[in-house]
Amino acid sequence: MNITVIGAGYVGLITAAGLAETGHQVVCVDDDLRKVQVLNSGGMPFYEPGLEDLVKRNRQAKRLEFISRIEDAVVKCQAIFICVGTPPLENGEADLSSVELVARRISECARGYHLVIEKSTVPVQTGRRLQKHFSIYGNDSQYHCDVASNPEFLREGSGVEDFFHPDRIVVGVDSDKAAALLGEIYKPVLEQTFACPVHENCGNRARVPFVITDINSAELIKHASNSFLAMKISFINMIADLCEAVGADVGKVAEAVGMDKRIGGSFLRPGVGFGGSCFPKDLQAFVRVGQSAGCDFTLLHEVEQINQRRVDLFVKKIKNELWVVRGKRVGVWGLAFKPRTDDVRCSPALAIIRRMLAEGALVRAYDPQAMEKAKAEIPDIEYCADAYAAAQGAEAILALTEWEEFLHLDLLKVRHLMSRPLILDGRNMFSSATLAGLGFEYVDIGSGAPAREAFFDARNV
Ligand code: UGA
Repeated sequence: MNITVIGAGYVGLITAAGLAETGHQVVCVDDDLRKVQVLNSGGMPFYEPGLEDLVKRNRQAKRLEFISRIEDAVVKCQAIFICVGTPPLENGEADLSSVELVARRISECARGYHLVIEKSTVPVQTGRRLQKHFSIYGNDSQYHCDVASNPEFLREGSGVEDFFHPDRIVVGVDSDKAAALLGEIYKPVLEQTFACPVHENCGNRARVPFVITDINSAELIKHASNSFLAMKISFINMIADLCEAVGADVGKVAEAVGMDKRIGGSFLRPGVGFGGSCFPKDLQAFVRVGQSAGCDFTLLHEVEQINQRRVDLFVKKIKNELWVVRGKRVGVWGLAFKPRTDDVRCSPALAIIRRMLAEGALVRAYDPQAMEKAKAEIPDIEYCADAYAAAQGAEAILALTEWEEFLHLDLLKVRHLMSRPLILDGRNMFSSATLAGLGFEYVDIGSGAPAREAFFDARNV
């Protein structure tokens, strides 16, 4: 099928390349000329594992092209995916001006029938607004734009895998024709009939559930899913604080709680809080949706508040350990909001660095992928070539993103490089027993006293 994808961000680019890989003819449009140039010259505008190969292969096979003018793509295609940004406004509501602008451009150049699919995360009832828009505007007498919602559940860092092996595909439609078209677009993924570009011996070939709903429900499913996941994280962070206060181990608590199939073990990792371009903004937007519908969404407001306090609490721990922060050298491991991405949007790591700078610390940081993007946000710290360089002469290391390479470091070497062997682990990626055995002072989230006691016990032996 001829498909247009508007927006070459994380969602748009993965969707465009994924659909091309499953056999569709895809044109991806972005009004950022520089981004289009980068993509057309074989580069990538951001780091996402597996995506570069996917884009390259499909460009070479002439199933995927990048252009900057919507008009040149829309006329020829049946399905148009809107994947533009919906950033938060001052009041937390989603800014839908890019979605509206794209709709306007589509109606100016659409001819005949098109299915317009909103993939950007939007508040419930946006589809209705789009339907109204398309019924008012349009230059062609034969023109008809159906609207559908098809929320994405791609995680940064594993977005390509999530595209090919989703837990479910949700479509919100109000016509059989729209449902049938979406069924056709996703047939290879639903039936798992594509040659898997992610796994060498792909054993994961069960049919993917296809959830067909009305448009409002599909829009709501997306916000409800992200809010629920954020709620799990804030819940376990709240429990972590209690564990510290009373002397319990949040790792064990989360493990056992998560063994209950009704609860599930994922998204129960405590830490310095959730970041990224989705959870913080989607939570705020969903709270606004609830409020304007007259519903009590205090629960989600509190989820947000707990998350905001994570950085304060971690900074308090740092100050507690360092006593006077001013003039002290602090090493930072990890800048991205999570591993396997170079994205630093709403990254707790950057928030913590800013607080350290305000306290007068000398910060030396390292991240395997996110240093360029972090430099644009915080230019005035020292960026290091590797984790060892960040540890050099440091009075403390703040471990803020759980990159796998940090787990393979020579920690004895790290200890010798540091001026005080203190690690504050904001992601609970290290084992307190191992670090204590190596002579580190180790502070994690939610195990409190036992880690410190283990350290002093080890030193007294
Ligand atoms: C999230 C959702 O997981 C995707 O399903 C959704 O499609 C996407 O938002 C979106 O709306 O576009 P993403 O933001 O890429 O994906 O990252 P997650 O893996 O969900 O992590 C979000 C944040 O929560 C990260 O900062 C991570 O470190 C944190 N987190 C996650 C925890 O602190 N604890 C956990 O147990 C899990």
